[in-house]
Amino acid sequence: MPRVTIIVTNAPPRVIDVLPRATLLRAAVRARMPIGRSCRGVAVCAACRIFIIEGCDAVEPMDELEARLAARSPLAERERFACRARITGDVTVTTSYW
Ligand code: FES
Repeated sequence: MPRVTIIVTNAPPRVIDVLPRATLLRAAVRARMPIGRSCRGVAVCAACRIFIIEGCDAVEPMDELEARLAARSPLAERERFACRARITGDVTVTTSYW
């Protein structure tokens, strides 16, 4: 099972195991982390930005919806939209507000 390590400021990391191909949004919600998701994960709001510290190769490439959203709301290097980023292996992530 892929393991998601969530880096939080001033607290120990949170670690959660998820099913293969789970989204990073699902992992964050399961770990009870606050994460922007006003469109509820349909790649419209761009609020679910998440930064991948380690494990970029364990994240599936962007699908069409994520690529379309990134074209109008650009991502930084190593940043993805959590609602679309599906993982296949271990990753370490954070956001600017965790
Ligand atoms: S939750 Fe809205 S774009 Fe990801």
